[in-house]
Amino acid sequence: MATERLAINGGSKAVDNLGVFPTKIGKEELLELLDLWQFSPGNDTKIKEIIEGETNLRGPHLFRYYNPRPSKVAAAEKAMKEMVGTEYCLATNSCTSALVTAYRAAGIGAGDEVIVAYTFFATAATVAASNAVPVIVDVDESLCMAPEAIEKGITKRTKAIVPVHMRGAPAQMDAIMDIANKKGIPVIEDVAQAGGGLFHGKTLGSIGMMGCFSFDYYKVIVSGEGGFITTDDERLYTRALNWHDCAACWRPDRFGPEAEGEELFCGENYRMSELEGAVALAQIRKAGSMICAYRNAKKKIKNGIDRFDGLTFRRLTDEAGDTGICLVMYLPEAELAQKVLPALQAEGVPAGGVYDSKVRDWHTYNYWEHILEKKSVASDNLPWSAVPEDELPKYSKYMCPRSLELLSKAILMDINYNYSDQDCAAIADGVNKVLSAYL
Ligand SMILES: Cc1ncc(COP(=O)(O)O)c(C=O)c1O
Repeated sequence: MATERLAINGGSKAVDNLGVFPTKIGKEELLELLDLWQFSPGNDTKIKEIIEGETNLRGPHLFRYYNPRPSKVAAAEKAMKEMVGTEYCLATNSCTSALVTAYRAAGIGAGDEVIVAYTFFATAATVAASNAVPVIVDVDESLCMAPEAIEKGITKRTKAIVPVHMRGAPAQMDAIMDIANKKGIPVIEDVAQAGGGLFHGKTLGSIGMMGCFSFDYYKVIVSGEGGFITTDDERLYTRALNWHDCAACWRPDRFGPEAEGEELFCGENYRMSELEGAVALAQIRKAGSMICAYRNAKKKIKNGIDRFDGLTFRRLTDEAGDTGICLVMYLPEAELAQKVLPALQAEGVPAGGVYDSKVRDWHTYNYWEHILEKKSVASDNLPWSAVPEDELPKYSKYMCPRSLELLSKAILMDINYNYSDQDCAAIADGVNKVLSAYL
């Protein structure tokens, strides 16, 4: 049998025309996605008919790299970079992974300490998961890290200070940066709860050496799950790229040798997918108008609340920079807050407590027994074994009394940016009704 001329010798190809890129994801997946959006029944049927009838569906490429189409993740990074005003931005699959990536990019590891305060556990857990020791300090009436408490937490091992812009509002960044700069300690902002917020005109996440954002569903700007790291420092960005994707080391040459020292090391996989990237992109574009609506609703509710002896509001370090996602009120003491809270809820006011000594909550350090009891994932007993025992922080459930006192007398109202004027007035009236009875 005569052999056919091989393509390598100019013959015709045996395999040709496979299409631009064979997709693994088609109509079934799109229909599942549409189900999440909950179209009205009539429109749902129409949309399904269009999808079923489509004969030329290409399907998405949900991996950001090697994408034949412009990547949504890359577009979201660009939009985020522009919103925050930094030179670099890297998308990750959560803020937890952004924090690990930022700590690792900053070279934090065994034997180092990182200062944290009242926050969701992730800020501190990722310190320990990076083999470093979290040092927990107090907050002040802003519910963010107290600058004077930072000074007490600094030791020769301190490698970073991580102020968290808690509950939508900025930490006291001028004083924090002064201390950090004086001591030569980097600041990594945890912006998980305050994406789009500002401090004296500077966007949060652009003030410290790096900013870490969460886009999980409960945050200001959301994509279900997702995170971003912002920085002006090219070296940190390169190292973050490397940590967030060990398979790739996009620097930008995936297989390139190390161009600069400390650029190549073993990392993990914290890549954001194109699904989250697409939602994040649309959200970043809407962030300005959403934050404006949050602020307006908050202002209307706050202005509608009467003055009561004993009622104070959370101290805002920069009212104009607050995202407006919640309103925090302080009552004179915890016992009263615990009586007022159910009364507000009974009126339909969307109020919640911030801390109850009887209810476990991952936001308050006294429930972080993983840290307080110095637990470890492995027999190496890291991060604790890397520091002489008598030099480890003296953790206890009562080590930050000011934080516990403030948190226990705080009442928080989450703001919905869709509140109408009537909603805001009704909430303020409900608060006035209850406070008139108790104060
Ligand atoms: C202050 C803070 N940091 C970090 C995180 C972790 O964010 P993610 O859920 O995106 O991992 C959260 C989430 O609640 C948070 O509130």
